[in-house]
Amino acid sequence: MTFAFASFRMQNHKLTKMALVFLSFFFLVASSRAAISNRIGINYGRLGNNLPSPAKSIELLESMNAGRVKLYDADHEILHLLSGKDIEVAITVANDEISAIAANQHLADQWVYEHVLAHYPNTKIRFILVGNEVFSSTNNVQDMQIARDLVPAMRRIKNTIKAQGIRNIKVGTPLAMDMMETTFPPSNGSFKPDIRELMIPLLKYLNGTRSFVLVDVYPYFRVVRQVARNNSDTGIDLGFALLRTSNMTYTDPQSGLVYTDLLDQMLDSVVYAMAKLGYDDIMLALAETGWPHDGDVDEIGANRENAAEYNNNLIKKMAAVPSNGTPARPGQIVPTFIFSMYDENQKYGPATERHWGLMNPDGSAVYAVNITGKVNPSD
Ligand SMILES: *[C@@H]1O[C@H](CO)[C@@H](O)[C@H](O)[C@H]1NC(C)=O
Ligand SMILES: *[C@@H]1O[C@H](CO)[C@@H](O)[C@H](O)[C@H]1NC(C)=O
Ligand SMILES: *[C@@H]1O[C@H](CO)[C@@H](O)[C@H](O)[C@H]1NC(C)=O
Ligand SMILES: *[C@@H]1O[C@H](CO)[C@@H](O)[C@H](O)[C@H]1NC(C)=O
Ligand SMILES: *[C@@H]1O[C@H](CO)[C@@H](O)[C@H](O)[C@H]1NC(C)=O
Repeated sequence: MTFAFASFRMQNHKLTKMALVFLSFFFLVASSRAAISNRIGINYGRLGNNLPSPAKSIELLESMNAGRVKLYDADHEILHLLSGKDIEVAITVANDEISAIAANQHLADQWVYEHVLAHYPNTKIRFILVGNEVFSSTNNVQDMQIARDLVPAMRRIKNTIKAQGIRNIKVGTPLAMDMMETTFPPSNGSFKPDIRELMIPLLKYLNGTRSFVLVDVYPYFRVVRQVARNNSDTGIDLGFALLRTSNMTYTDPQSGLVYTDLLDQMLDSVVYAMAKLGYDDIMLALAETGWPHDGDVDEIGANRENAAEYNNNLIKKMAAVPSNGTPARPGQIVPTFIFSMYDENQKYGPATERHWGLMNPDGSAVYAVNITGKVNPSD
């Protein structure tokens, strides 16, 4: 950009013309990128028995100014309620539907007719997510089959939407960071050997369809695991995990890139892992990230103060214009969905599992967060 504007000062007519061509190319690229919104999204998980109604929830999403919402299903009532709203929607094909859809184009057609065409375009469906963290459970024969059927199922869903002439819906699948063998330093990022054979066809598909690699990234878990292991060697500082603006930086010895937070390091480790398999420009999206506001006594760092700091810093970072990107992907928008809308009291596991919510069941905020990324004058 600096180059293009500097070129304007050149007196040579030919060069000025060249600069103009370059400039219009730049704006073309910039505007096609701008088609991807940087407005913050929210994961709307519903594993709770005390949650507000879908109608109330959509009202809340609107009042929060959410740019996107991600559903773990494709619920008709919710998709209907989102009709006419300025909220982009990600819907999910359940893991246990994948193998059947992979085997049968008719089932894919049926799924798309029921869950997409019944609501699109009035409901701004922009992502169809096939499964959730499918590569994280490959322990038994059935789960392994689902993982192998993932790309064929994505292809069938895409066939249907393509046949309908729909071009603004991406097909993707959220992946968890347990797919990684190494994440540090970021340039050393690589996928687990047993995941690679699954990853190669997926990346090939995502690259070929210009879709996103969607990842669930939780700096929080890195911090607690480190504390549990009592290992300070990795040098993870709480402020670094909380996206705090400080003077702390980490320079990757191989790439020379300078990191100011753990989230960027984790995202770039995925970028480098993909590049090792030959894919160096598939766009990234953050399908889940967040910080728990409460937990068991041994769950260090799970409190309101940290949750508020992480999410507010995250929003500022991800909603910034122009976009920051990551050190390996400067300027690139990373569409981001915060986890989560509500605490989900029917989830199992440690207490943190039930304390990721931004909103209380009565619709009040658990802590102050403004997902527009702007600071209220009254604050
Ligand atoms: C990169 O990761 C491998 C393990 O996959 C490890 O053996 C090696 O030491 C790492 N390199 C650096 C520079 O940390
Ligand atoms: C990824 O897609 C681009 C654009 O279609 C293509 O040029 C490139 O060869 C693809 N990369 C791989 C590794 O297939
Ligand atoms: C953690 O480190 C501290 C100080 O180095 C030590 O006193 C403590 O015993 C360690 N805890 C565990 C669980 O290893
Ligand atoms: C951070 O940098 C600023 C400006 O360079 C300096 O004034 C400040 O003392 C530094 N803070 C720390 C904690 O190093
Ligand atoms: C967020 O900030 C914007 C801009 O200051 C303001 O218009 C909006 O009401 C705020 N939203 C919340 C939920 O505080």
